[in-house]
Amino acid sequence: MSTALIILAAGQGSRMNSDLPKVLHEVANAPLFAHALAAGGSLAPERTVLVVGHGGDLVEAAALRIDDTIAIARQTEQLGTAHAVAQAREALDGFDGDVMVLYGDTPFVSAGTLERMTAARATHDVVILGFEAADPARYGRLVVNGDKLERIVEYKDADPATRALTLCNSGVVCADAATLFSLIDAVGNDNASGEYYLTDIVEIAWKTGKTATAVSCDEAETLGINTRAELARAERLFQTAKRAEALENGVTLTAPETVFFSLDTYVGRDAIVEPNVVFGPNVTVESTVRIRAFSHLEGCHVSMGATVGPYARLRPGAELSNNAHVGNFVEIKNARIGEGTKVNHLTYIGDAEIGDGTNIGAGTITCNYDGVFKHKTTIGKNAFIGSNTMLVAPVTVGDDAMTASGSVITTNVEAGALAIARAKQVSKPGLAVRMFEKLKSAKKKAQKGQ
Ligand code: UD1
Ligand code: MG
Repeated sequence: MSTALIILAAGQGSRMNSDLPKVLHEVANAPLFAHALAAGGSLAPERTVLVVGHGGDLVEAAALRIDDTIAIARQTEQLGTAHAVAQAREALDGFDGDVMVLYGDTPFVSAGTLERMTAARATHDVVILGFEAADPARYGRLVVNGDKLERIVEYKDADPATRALTLCNSGVVCADAATLFSLIDAVGNDNASGEYYLTDIVEIAWKTGKTATAVSCDEAETLGINTRAELARAERLFQTAKRAEALENGVTLTAPETVFFSLDTYVGRDAIVEPNVVFGPNVTVESTVRIRAFSHLEGCHVSMGATVGPYARLRPGAELSNNAHVGNFVEIKNARIGEGTKVNHLTYIGDAEIGDGTNIGAGTITCNYDGVFKHKTTIGKNAFIGSNTMLVAPVTVGDDAMTASGSVITTNVEAGALAIARAKQVSKPGLAVRMFEKLKSAKKKAQKGQ
């Protein structure tokens, strides 16, 4: 059965106390809605519709940056969750599979839970995700009878006996498209909030000859974000889970609690990550790589056997080939570092292509920016760049070439050549001794005068 996702993200999130729409606040360097998107992605959805309202333009732009096939539906007035889902009808025109409704502010629903919901569709028309709440507070209550979910009662509309129920509504709903939209058509707003409740579809289903059931998950999966404190807690929970997952997958983390991952970080088996490493978005690290302490990586790829750090910074577009070495206080941006190539100390490599087996000496800088344009540096294989070489791009250094330390290289160096581009050394015999004497006597004079 094909699946479509509807992600509700129109709410303002006033308790975030922010100019930014709630779903754009980030956990693990990804906007909240991207977490729901990732969980739903496991169902290989044929279509995805994001329902936006408050800050809709910003949310739309962020969504399309992640996936430009996402359909955006506008909910101009927030009249309730059923009304929000109704806005997705047009984008799902002609779709006749199952629809999974998720909340954009609820990041931790697991792929496994969603799969259990789609499996429950085999026996029931409407499947609702519920959870046993430690503190049911103001959640909607699920009224069940055996495997039947009879109705959902919103807290505001519940009598004391119903409020005493602890099985609560997470908000996640699964039903086939035709059923979902026909049930929604029958939802009214005659309730304590004057809103169109999505939860009403359960009772309407039974009245119209359809069936409904509830699938349960752990409460942790249903955590919704409403405040900055909850956002911080979600970050903590995410990092704890991702660290455990990395360990489980065969990654050594020397001090797991000091390593920070992004939603999409991939680290291969038998990689070693030392303390205080931060993985920004879009990082893939192959197996057997060693990331040494205090390194910061984003938008980069590190191939097998490479080592990074301590104190290295890999920025977007950094591509390290097998067994490359990037050492302390080295920054790499938009550059490919060849196989076995070493960039070990105090260096900036930006907008560059460096071949295999090359050594980049301490203090080398690719001068890639002229104040207006960025330029490329190309270095061949088995080359040797002397310490403190300035490579003024655009410039090419050929295979097996060398640059003398302290050189400012402004023109191409041909293969096999040694380029020396620095002032010639001059030595003045005895001048140092005479200079010292002069300076010392000047100091004595000055002290007497005080
Ligand atoms: C909803 C459920 C409740 C459940 C709770 C779980 C209903 C009527 N109630 O209540 O049973 O226990 O979630 O957290 O569904 N949204 C829109 N447009 C709207 C209204 C809401 O996009 O017009 C979005 C919000 O941005 C949010 C989600 O839908 O992501 C839920 O809305 P919210 O107002 O938080 O619903 P609750 O009152 O918490
Ligand atoms: Mg809510």
